[in-house]
Amino acid sequence: MKTYTRPYIIVFVTQTVDGRIGFRGKRTLLSSYRDLERMYYLRRNVDAVVIGANTVVVDDPILAPRPLDSAPKKPYRVIIDGNLTIPLSAKVLDTRILPTIIFTSSKFLGTSKARKLFENNVLLEFLEPLDETNRIDLAEAFEVLYKKYHVDKVLVQGGGRLIGELIIKGLVDELIVSLSPKIIGLNGTPSINIELNRIIELKLESIQVDHMTGEVVLVYRAV
Ligand SMILES: NC(=O)c1ccc[n+]([C@@H]2O[C@H](COP(=O)([O-])OP(=O)(O)OC[C@H]3O[C@@H](n4cnc5c(N)ncnc54)[C@H](OP(=O)(O)O)[C@@H]3O)[C@@H](O)[C@H]2O)c1
Repeated sequence: MKTYTRPYIIVFVTQTVDGRIGFRGKRTLLSSYRDLERMYYLRRNVDAVVIGANTVVVDDPILAPRPLDSAPKKPYRVIIDGNLTIPLSAKVLDTRILPTIIFTSSKFLGTSKARKLFENNVLLEFLEPLDETNRIDLAEAFEVLYKKYHVDKVLVQGGGRLIGELIIKGLVDELIVSLSPKIIGLNGTPSINIELNRIIELKLESIQVDHMTGEVVLVYRAV
């Protein structure tokens, strides 16, 4: 099996007590202003912020650190979108704010959507798909980020399917779970949305209790 070099990968997720990150298909605010501040701090200190295509569709985030001017680094915004489904109107495609990279299947090379994205100054990386559903190899994508874009540290911000795949493939160095004092039940998307037939052990590194907002921030490392 080919081994890839890659950046240091931090996953930050805000989830409910019942392990959900939002109602399915609906933008759901779970974070307090202090939680958002923790997230912006992380964004200010990485070279790239990565999300899955469905998070763009549901949340339409700008994905920038705030305040933008105070960020020591100007992170790339990176979308994993094997089927190139994100809408051209997505806020993350406004490259006047920050550069945006989309990793997609090589099947979309030369399509009109790819051309429109190029015209918008979006950086497109085409990878050979792993299967007919256009899954791409995340380890390969991270190697491209590391070698071509000099990305040493990334922050992955969801959603659940992307986080699940990263965990199962051993591509997470640090997992930060901000536990929001809320429950949303079975109509919510799981924070780690993948089938696992084994137990993955983590090492707890720190716990921070935010008494003002009731959040508990758990920092884990891969064992
Ligand atoms: N609370 C939080 O901190 C937080 C943060 C982010 C998002 N969210 C919520 O999470 C939800 C979205 O999460 P989600 O689990 O549905 O989706 P997601 O992880 O954002 O995106 C999954 C999609 O990304 C593409 N993708 C991921 N890995 C891929 C790979 N290896 N190769 C090719 N394509 C890949 C696939 O698109 P295709 O299926 O089209 O191929 C996949 O369906 C939203 O409700 C959002 O509000 C919450």
